Amino acid sequence: MTRTLREPGREKTAERLLKSSANKFYDPEVDIDWAAPLVEGKRFIPEHRSTLYGTELWDRLSPQQRIELGKHELASVATNGLWFEILLMQMLLKEVYDADPTSSHAQYALTEVADECRHSTMFARMAERIGCPPYGPVLWRRRLGKILPVIGYGPALYGSILVAEEVLDRLQREQMNDPDIQPLVRMVNRIHVLEEARHVTFAREEVTRGMARLSKKELAYQRLLIAVVSHEITRSLVNPAVYKAVGIRPRDGYQAAMSNPHWQETVRYSGERIMAFLDDAGLVGRPGMTFWRRSFLVSGR
Ligand SMILES: [Fe+2]
Ligand SMILES: [Fe+2]
Repeated sequence: MTRTLREPGREKTAERLLKSSANKFYDPEVDIDWAAPLVEGKRFIPEHRSTLYGTELWDRLSPQQRIELGKHELASVATNGLWFEILLMQMLLKEVYDADPTSSHAQYALTEVADECRHSTMFARMAERIGCPPYGPVLWRRRLGKILPVIGYGPALYGSILVAEEVLDRLQREQMNDPDIQPLVRMVNRIHVLEEARHVTFAREEVTRGMARLSKKELAYQRLLIAVVSHEITRSLVNPAVYKAVGIRPRDGYQAAMSNPHWQETVRYSGERIMAFLDDAGLVGRPGMTFWRRSFLVSGR
């Protein structure tokens, strides 16, 4: 039996998003010139977005090593984005499984899965093209992630999707027009930013609708779930193995990064928009606050 009632507002949004998806989408296979050479001396991320920027370890790196580290950090963020997209696709398919497939809502969810399929292929291809390993999350996190599609539901599920999407979006938006960044990377960022705007609209409305239906008991679970998942998202962005590329021991690099106020500020900046929304929606609160603070998305409160 189908669970989804045809709510008029929900269907209207889905119809609009379906139309927009049909009018504007990219196929990275043809829209990106994968054979174009990388530009010598151009960065892959801005220096001030590097996890070690401003630390003692950073001071010891040559200009060339700083570019190299940024390249590996970009590959790590992209392949972690890919990891999260794969989890998200599973969660969306779980929703569709129970929904009326003739509803625009279910059809848009399927369209979003199709978008994410292209994005994940694009991120994987970019990592390969710039000559980096497929970092993704560390092994224990990769294993732990498997339970998310099983235990995740409701506004926390859509809220966690939003944290991953909007954190990435804010950084990519800042970098897509930066002339100092490699053209290939800028194009990947541009494609992702454009298509994610629809996903954000879809998920934000689901959060608002879901919150209106929650019982008090469920609210605590939802707040804890989203805080834990968001903590894992921000902590996984940079795989410690990236530091090996510039001769830094992974444990030393990761520790320096996590205690680096510049990096903490980058995470806070990247989550600024979505945190205001989630706070407004009532999803940021006890019993999740310790995880939020440790995620750097919320500064001590
Ligand atoms: Fe995506
Ligand atoms: Fe997305």
